[in-house]
Amino acid sequence: MKIAPSFLSCDFSKFGEELVRMDKAGADYIHLDVMDGHFVPNITFGAPVIKWGRQYTKVPFDVHLMIEEPHRYIEDFAKAGADIVTIHLECKSDIAETLKQIKALGMKAGLSIKPKTAAEEVFPYLDLADWILIMTVEPGFGGQSFMADMLPKVGIIKEYALSHGKEIVIEADGGINAETIEMCREAGIDVAVSGTGVFKAEDAAAAIEQLKNG
Ligand code: DX5
Ligand code: ZN
Repeated sequence: MKIAPSFLSCDFSKFGEELVRMDKAGADYIHLDVMDGHFVPNITFGAPVIKWGRQYTKVPFDVHLMIEEPHRYIEDFAKAGADIVTIHLECKSDIAETLKQIKALGMKAGLSIKPKTAAEEVFPYLDLADWILIMTVEPGFGGQSFMADMLPKVGIIKEYALSHGKEIVIEADGGINAETIEMCREAGIDVAVSGTGVFKAEDAAAAIEQLKNG
């Protein structure tokens, strides 16, 4: 299990130091939640902040775009140093075109689904996406409760991908902590995002280690 601390819960007055802290604590990815106040009822930050953060660590940046028209900003995120860019299936951009745009800029393309979106809806895009992000809370805020009823989506997508000879990474995001991680492991999740689970822990390295290996 790989762990991606969500910086939504970091101390942004020390963004650089927080990046170094998570790098040293063993983060496999740095999960960066971009929100526009339209796609979700919350606003966070955009490409300039990510660009400033890039100098502090070499850990891959996993950028989760909770924005209505991601196609307008893909180039900005590429220039800012994103490694993986994930868009939402429910956004207003052309999904196939935007995934192609992400890959053409040399990044990994991710596709995310909100809790109400069925797993099967990603099937048409499995040729273009490298990474599927299953939301285990309604996107918008950290610190919400894990929705265990989202877990069957993992098997549905993995099985379909396998039977079509496609390799896919499955990431889950929302409410993942020491209590809920075992369910994620059993379900076959490859990458777990954890915001409050890591940032509110006294010892981030111990929290990451526990999430990784149990
Ligand atoms: C929610 C974000 C998550 C969030 C997770 O919309 O996509 O990445 O920060 O936070 P926790 O782990 O606290 O649920
Ligand atoms: Zn996220």
